[in-house]
Amino acid sequence: MWAVPGRHFLQIPGPSNIPDRVLRAIAQPTIDHRGPAFVALAREVLDGLQPVFQTSEPVVIYASSGTGASEAALVNTLSPGDTVLMFETGHFATQWRDMAVRLGLHAEFVPGDWRHGVDPREVERRLTDDRDRAIKAVAVVHNETSTGATSSIAAIRQAIDAAGHPALLLVDAISSLGCIDYRHDEWGVDVTVSCSQKGLLVPPGLGFNAISAKARASAAAARLPRSYWDWQLMIKNNAAGVFPFTPATNLLFGLREAMRMLMDEGLANVFARHLRFGEATRRAVAAWGLEVLCVDPAAYSPALTAVMMPAGHDADAFRRIVLQRFDMSLGAGLGKLKGQIFRIAHLGDFNDLMLAGTLSGVEMGLAAAGVPFTRGGVTAALDSLACETSAS
Ligand SMILES: Cc1ncc(COP(=O)(O)O)c(C=O)c1O
Repeated sequence: MWAVPGRHFLQIPGPSNIPDRVLRAIAQPTIDHRGPAFVALAREVLDGLQPVFQTSEPVVIYASSGTGASEAALVNTLSPGDTVLMFETGHFATQWRDMAVRLGLHAEFVPGDWRHGVDPREVERRLTDDRDRAIKAVAVVHNETSTGATSSIAAIRQAIDAAGHPALLLVDAISSLGCIDYRHDEWGVDVTVSCSQKGLLVPPGLGFNAISAKARASAAAARLPRSYWDWQLMIKNNAAGVFPFTPATNLLFGLREAMRMLMDEGLANVFARHLRFGEATRRAVAAWGLEVLCVDPAAYSPALTAVMMPAGHDADAFRRIVLQRFDMSLGAGLGKLKGQIFRIAHLGDFNDLMLAGTLSGVEMGLAAAGVPFTRGGVTAALDSLACETSAS
């Protein structure tokens, strides 16, 4: 690989590009995590996260990746042998299912083709059939980062209510929070799982749970073993502005700055910006004559677009060429999609010209890799960006 000057293009769907303001906020001397300055910081970030989740419920922060927060959602609410209704939307839903099984839960895993979101009618059907109320939780991934397909959490909530079922609703909003409209309270979500390194503009290392009153009540009876992940300890300490264990202090400096940036832009504008990028990217893919993996237009992700590689061409070889020539990282196909797709991320600290650069790198990379395609994708995307004004 030859040296490519200029900034690396990090176009994987998380970790996303970190704004300079956030990097500078992190680059400060670490403070005493039991002192008054930390208490002020903790209050600011704990309160500041609530509007981001669109909740008035407590949000807890772990020093962890997103997977830690996914584990916290299960171990705080469930008991050994409990049934969880889960949906095979892609790699991350499958990982969550595997985790549930390893924890001693019974996962009822509804098969999927990795090209759609969750079908709310299937949620209603399964819950209606569950007459003895064996299903204790419905666990879904809002934005399946491995496929670029979203699921309607509002429709899933309606399906649970239509079945009159008391199951908890657990949602992985890891790659949707801060990118796609997400409403913890309005959608009656019991636990929202998320983390720092995608729409929240902070490097990896912070995991989040937003927790409803119903979930907190379930935690009192839940018997899966837990210690580090225990909400009770966390919520009790947080009330005094501290954490039970050493927090990731400098990442919290970054989070405070990132939340200011999100609020300055306005969440509605953040969501509209991501919708525009999704639309422009799909126009590019269509002009190239390539296929988007997600086949349901209602489920298209505003945060990333997964693109199918033409048969006989290896998506990973294409990604390697793009990295070598243009110093740009594109997302790989995960799990059973390895080598078959590449993912273009358009989330986080990202603007029109960055998208133009990203799509230019893809178009030049397709040519360099000898992939059959039609030129003009970048032009189609630029036309789309030019005619759609931002929400601000
Ligand atoms: C939807 C989703 N769930 C779970 C995870 C796992 O998160 P982490 O790698 O931070 O543990 C990811 C990571 O990309 C994800 O996108």
